[in-house]
Amino acid sequence: MKERVQRIFRHLSPTPEALVLVNSIEPHLDQSFFYVFDCPSGLFEGSAAIALPDGSLHVSTSQLEEESALQAAKHDPHLDIHLVKTADDRKKWLQKMLPAKGHIGLNFHELTHEDFLSVSGAVPALAWVDASVAVRKARRVKDAAEVERIREAGRIGSVVAGEIPSLLKLGITESELASEIEYRMMRTGASGRSFQTIVGFGAHGAEPHYSPGATPLEPGMSMVCDFGAFFRRYASDITRSFRFGPTDPELKKVHETVERAQQAAFDAVKAGTPGKEVHLAAQRVIDASPWKGRFTHGVGHSIGLAVHDGYGMGDSTEDPLEVGMAITIEPGIYLPGRGGVRIEDDVLVTASGCEILTTAKRGYIEVPA
Ligand code: GLY
Ligand code: MN
Repeated sequence: MKERVQRIFRHLSPTPEALVLVNSIEPHLDQSFFYVFDCPSGLFEGSAAIALPDGSLHVSTSQLEEESALQAAKHDPHLDIHLVKTADDRKKWLQKMLPAKGHIGLNFHELTHEDFLSVSGAVPALAWVDASVAVRKARRVKDAAEVERIREAGRIGSVVAGEIPSLLKLGITESELASEIEYRMMRTGASGRSFQTIVGFGAHGAEPHYSPGATPLEPGMSMVCDFGAFFRRYASDITRSFRFGPTDPELKKVHETVERAQQAAFDAVKAGTPGKEVHLAAQRVIDASPWKGRFTHGVGHSIGLAVHDGYGMGDSTEDPLEVGMAITIEPGIYLPGRGGVRIEDDVLVTASGCEILTTAKRGYIEVPA
């Protein structure tokens, strides 16, 4: 992935001699490793990548990943794979590949302290600099291959969101609904879920990051379902809120308000606009409603190799949107003890505004109990 390596180096000044990206053990994997080493299959624990300013990439990995690594190398003339068996093999490889003196960039944001000690101990005369801002900025703007994967992950999430109303039966538990959602995403082509699925019935909908449990669905419950797919390592993130009848007129109005807030945020998305303007567009709608102050988080975040991919939009985000960023737009209103409504979609920032990548119906949906 010569272009991606060079993109990171363009954000690094002064230019280090090399950039080293190191994976520890799941879940401490540096997704930036997979940004420069585009290998859709495999875990790659303990693997490392050395990226050079000319765009070339050297990856050390174990025999466990040999097959997928060699497949990836077939399609990339700038990539060289080195198989290691032990920690000492990796140390010798680092000593051979890195210069004896100079500066080496590391992704401090994702590197474990143990790996820092191991890598820096291999070549003690080198100076180690933090390259995490450069890595994050490079990953922020997606290339065509990344957009296609996010688009497919979004399509999978949208298909499953459209199926949820047919699953809302008396007595189904939050965990049962969450497992149906995850099963259906994989059946539709996902390689997995992009984060722990949120299904919150009734009052649980007021907890934005609720973990599903044994609560059964009863008449008169609203719910928040927030989930996402991974497709070839790239994430989607979608939320839909539903009502299991009968109607609650207040929560129906809450839903309509969140829809308007989301539309205001979509309208504010434009390359060059500071992220806070998108957040404030949604917040203004909610603050003009009876639920002022009940929108308790930022309006969205970037998605990519991680579901929270390094850029967030809140009321103080000055960093502007750029063409090619993939972000979520997810306003919500949370009423403790009563429930919540969140609507979330994934959008691609374009020259003229945005393209919405998740297409499931966004309006109020009530299923009779
Ligand atoms: N979808 C969960 C979140 O964005 O925090
Ligand atoms: Mn989200």
